[in-house]
Amino acid sequence: MDIEYLGVDHLGLAVKDLAAAEATYRNILGFKLSGSESLPDRGLEVRFVETGNARIELIAPTRDDSEVSRFLDKRGEGLHHICLQVASIDRAIAQLRAQGAQLLSDEAQSGAEGSRVVFIHPKGTHGVLMELVEKQAEEES
Ligand code: CO
Repeated sequence: MDIEYLGVDHLGLAVKDLAAAEATYRNILGFKLSGSESLPDRGLEVRFVETGNARIELIAPTRDDSEVSRFLDKRGEGLHHICLQVASIDRAIAQLRAQGAQLLSDEAQSGAEGSRVVFIHPKGTHGVLMELVEKQAEEES
């Protein structure tokens, strides 16, 4: 059984100042804002910017004890995670677990827009936090 990967969904960047980072990506790099989200229980504020098929998630902490505050303290601003889209998150989790990968949760967690996500610890990926996402099927309109 192989994991069916569908490509890179986004790159996550940890930033200190969300408004400043958004302004840089929009005004200097020419990206467009495509979404924003508050995750109060994780102490995070998120903006998605994109251009072509490149999508970047800018992530800033809203309090000092969030996971991203600790990341910024230790490593400074920069690449926080890589997110790959998979066809089935449950199959991916079963496969990864069978191979001994270290996942940050036992089951898929709910993500943005009805998606389901799981994270793989950077110790098991040679240094980068890996997010896997299964997108909700798009509704017929
Ligand atoms: Co992400």
